[in-house]
Amino acid sequence: MILKSKDLLGLKDLTAEEIEYILDTARTMKYVITSNNKRTPHLQGKSIVTLFYENSTRTRLSFELASKYMSASSANIASSVSSVAKGETLIDTGKTIDMMGTDVIVIRHPQSGAPHLLAKHVKASVINAGDGMNEHPTQALLDLFTMREKKGTLKGLKVAILGDIYHSRVARSNTWGLLKMGAEVALAGPATLLPPKIEMAGAKIYSTVHEALIDADVVISLRMQLERQKKALFPSVREYFRFFGLDENRLRLAKKDVLIMHPGPVNRGVELTSSVADNEQSAINEQVTNGVAVRMALLYLLTRRGAHETTD
Ligand code: CP
Repeated sequence: MILKSKDLLGLKDLTAEEIEYILDTARTMKYVITSNNKRTPHLQGKSIVTLFYENSTRTRLSFELASKYMSASSANIASSVSSVAKGETLIDTGKTIDMMGTDVIVIRHPQSGAPHLLAKHVKASVINAGDGMNEHPTQALLDLFTMREKKGTLKGLKVAILGDIYHSRVARSNTWGLLKMGAEVALAGPATLLPPKIEMAGAKIYSTVHEALIDADVVISLRMQLERQKKALFPSVREYFRFFGLDENRLRLAKKDVLIMHPGPVNRGVELTSSVADNEQSAINEQVTNGVAVRMALLYLLTRRGAHETTD
């Protein structure tokens, strides 16, 4: 099997079979991360560039380590210290990177659709590492991987996603992916932070966390994205936590063996308490490890796809 597209722009575009294939490949890659010799030849002779117009710790570092673990040449461009700061357009920057023989460009951008625009203008594969309020497909894939690993299957799971749904590209990508894989999605947050129903077709949307949490197998607590809120959308962080924060009392509404997840970075005491974040049922740290495995799988599958096309 090969992935249909040269790019990974969103989970909206992937089939359930492609998602399953990526997760299966990531399972093999996870052995490399946990082994003593983190070096494979999968990306020998390939070059990967990460181009980040927004801050990142997990996504950027995991792509960089994934590239190194698989023997690729890798480089990073931060927009603040590149010619972007001199006014260069995204397309010109992308073409410049492309002309240096780059195989994969990993981009994070504050504008929804920026990776899609870039993908149309470069030969390299483009991976969306988060675009505005649209998608964060590699985060959702690592979330699906973590759920599948812990629960055995995604089919039939009830997944509650809590918090700032409106601004969350993580919520959008997870909703697309989970529905395709046969899970039930329950979204809950303040009314001012919920998207229009039509945008999340297939998911159940609640304005209290209680309804979403009842009998949930998995709960994903989302980061409050204050940087994307142009005006106050809730009275105060304290009020937010009182009505929507995840604490041990609220967690009791979910199934006993509920899996606790958060994409990070976590704002302790805002989205969830430290006791919930550090609970033995929390997979937050493991999500980070799984992020490297999933990104290794994607880099491998997208570059292998290119080789397949030229030898066919
Ligand atoms: N979850 C996530 O995207 O984290 P970073 O912003 O640190 O990459």
